[in-house]
Amino acid sequence: MKVFILGATGFLGLPAAEAFVRGGHIVYGSTRSQKSAEEVLAPNEIIPVVTDPYSEEGRKKWGDIAAQCDVVIDALSANGAKPAIDIFHNFLKHLDRPRGSPKPTYIYTSGLWINSRGYGGLGKWTDERQPTSTYNEAVQWRPLIEVPVLESEKVHGIVIRGAVVYGRDGSAFASYIFDEALKASKTDEKIFETVYSHETRIASIHTDDMADLYLRVAERGPILRGQVFMASNQSTERLTDILDAVVRVSGCKGYKAKAPKGAMQEAWVSSTLIKPSLGDALTGWRPKKMSLVDGMDIYWSSYLANKKLRVP
Ligand SMILES: NC(=O)c1ccc[n+]([C@@H]2O[C@H](COP(=O)([O-])OP(=O)(O)OC[C@H]3O[C@@H](n4cnc5c(N)ncnc54)[C@H](OP(=O)(O)O)[C@@H]3O)[C@@H](O)[C@H]2O)c1
Repeated sequence: MKVFILGATGFLGLPAAEAFVRGGHIVYGSTRSQKSAEEVLAPNEIIPVVTDPYSEEGRKKWGDIAAQCDVVIDALSANGAKPAIDIFHNFLKHLDRPRGSPKPTYIYTSGLWINSRGYGGLGKWTDERQPTSTYNEAVQWRPLIEVPVLESEKVHGIVIRGAVVYGRDGSAFASYIFDEALKASKTDEKIFETVYSHETRIASIHTDDMADLYLRVAERGPILRGQVFMASNQSTERLTDILDAVVRVSGCKGYKAKAPKGAMQEAWVSSTLIKPSLGDALTGWRPKKMSLVDGMDIYWSSYLANKKLRVP
């Protein structure tokens, strides 16, 4: 297959692109940075398309290449519904295939917080068979792009909703927890502040496991049209267990709570109680990595190493 990944240098996009390369596919990846093209994409056999995907010139450049591809994945950082809709429409605009041709697969990367129902018993549990919820205000825009993708007649539209993703540079776990713990570990007090509640349970997934789901879903795109997959481990973890593990590996002595500010931080402490099953049922997908708490020694070291490597 020919695969085009928008946001190929990203936390989700790069491991996904590498998984497709290992799967024997021809992989194009977009980046705005010539340096990333030369140092990150090309060395990993990902064909760089250097462009700002939202600019007029960029839309034509990536649209022309993506129109020749069998799979297009939007893994750009989330900036609300409008940019994601523009990206999808730009792809459709460039698509020009003779009638009867195979349709391409379009995968939109979404997030699991649109399924959160808060902490509680079985009434709060969710999976791929459950509708979205109105619990987290911060992500109420997601269906505005998900629905057109899922209902499109022109592509095999699929949505993958990621849980909170861990591994490598830590992504949201870095900004909410690791960065604060690292800073505090260098103080006398060694107590870090972080946004948490005692009841919060976090659904999470390693970025390599999510990459494997992208690959499996994309390869089966023509029979998975209109489906939503949830990229999450089989069990959730209590946020305070994650924080305790960070205390253990960071040299900190403890943590104290910061009140959530704004809808995104409210979503961070909302619980998403989930046990996904559709990825396994339809593609044989099973996450392989250790959970965040169990593998914290590895994930903390990887976070520290990535922080050193990061170009300022
Ligand atoms: N990270 C998570 O834990 C997580 C969990 C669930 C869902 N998601 C969703 O998955 C998607 C991808 O997330 P991510 O964490 O992988 O994203 P990311 O690493 O923050 O960004 C992906 C790529 O988007 C490009 N980009 C960033 N800002 C841009 C801009 N203003 N204009 C054009 N390109 C821009 C960057 O590429 P260049 O700089 O190379 O151009 C970047 O590498 C988002 O919708 C996110 O909400 C993420």
